[in-house]
Amino acid sequence: MKAMKILVASMLAACSTWAAAQQPIVIKFSHVVANDTPKGLAAEYFKKKAEDYTKGRVKVEVYANSTLYKDKEEMEALQLGAVQMLAPSLAKFGPLGVKEFEMFDLPYIFDNYDQLHKITQGPIGQSILAKLEPKGIRGLGYWDNGFKSFSANTPIKQPSDLKGKKMRIQSSKVLEAQMRALGSLPQVLPFSEVYQALQTGVVDGTENPISNLYTQKMFEVQKHLAMTEHGYLGYAVIVNKKFWDGLPPDVREQLDKAMNESTAFANRIAKHQNDQDLEKVKKSGKTAVYNLTPAEREAFKKALLPVHKEMASRIGPDLLQAVNAELA
Ligand code: LMR
Repeated sequence: MKAMKILVASMLAACSTWAAAQQPIVIKFSHVVANDTPKGLAAEYFKKKAEDYTKGRVKVEVYANSTLYKDKEEMEALQLGAVQMLAPSLAKFGPLGVKEFEMFDLPYIFDNYDQLHKITQGPIGQSILAKLEPKGIRGLGYWDNGFKSFSANTPIKQPSDLKGKKMRIQSSKVLEAQMRALGSLPQVLPFSEVYQALQTGVVDGTENPISNLYTQKMFEVQKHLAMTEHGYLGYAVIVNKKFWDGLPPDVREQLDKAMNESTAFANRIAKHQNDQDLEKVKKSGKTAVYNLTPAEREAFKKALLPVHKEMASRIGPDLLQAVNAELA
């Protein structure tokens, strides 16, 4: 009888081990934007590829639109292991102590996506991602969104048009300096609160790639958009390092493959999504879209370029020198 009991118990134990082995590995991927944005679409693409390539051994749960965590909380959640994957904007790594990411916020540092990719797809980009390791975070790659433009309820044609305006920014000291250079009053707010802050007048204006302005409906509460395209907004896809390193090697290999393909996808669609959303904003008739003359663009450049020098010691003069040499 005793032998029988032991046999049954060991069979049950074997069953539960087998059941545990059959449980998929869950990756919770939290982000703050809408699904139909470059980041939202790329996250869904990654989910599909990851689940296909691992034949269901991995399940990716995507939580869009700040439904799981807001900006600041999501970083903490990743470090604690409550979520496994994020793709925060590069402007949100300063509070983590990795100030090098703020290089990407410098106004007019990149003229176009080709210049940007020289950094994000080259050794400099990799070296910045490596700075996350001591924080328990592994950087897997960079996903594009696009170039930001200023919006407000009054026309914007020259830097002085933003003087005295309360402007929402992401949590970056470079963006703070950028707004101060224009005489504006920068206000850090989580992305999820921007629409309401604009609607209620807590802030007067903001800066965004058009995909965010459109999908968060900010254009409904901003009468003017000037196509300043003065700065870049993109993402680092990051994972909890302990989780990633602990994955079975064959699973990790498939996930790396899925991620590489998702990165290529994100960077293929980003410009198109933004162009398409600009047309939708124009069609809505709610926001007047203004294209700066070359002289007006120069005036914004002249006002904002001093931010590079001002922030060099924070970002790292050597990094800035390396970036400028790469882009020259
Ligand atoms: C913002 O807060 O404006 C952006 O970082 C949102 C995003 O993730 O694109």
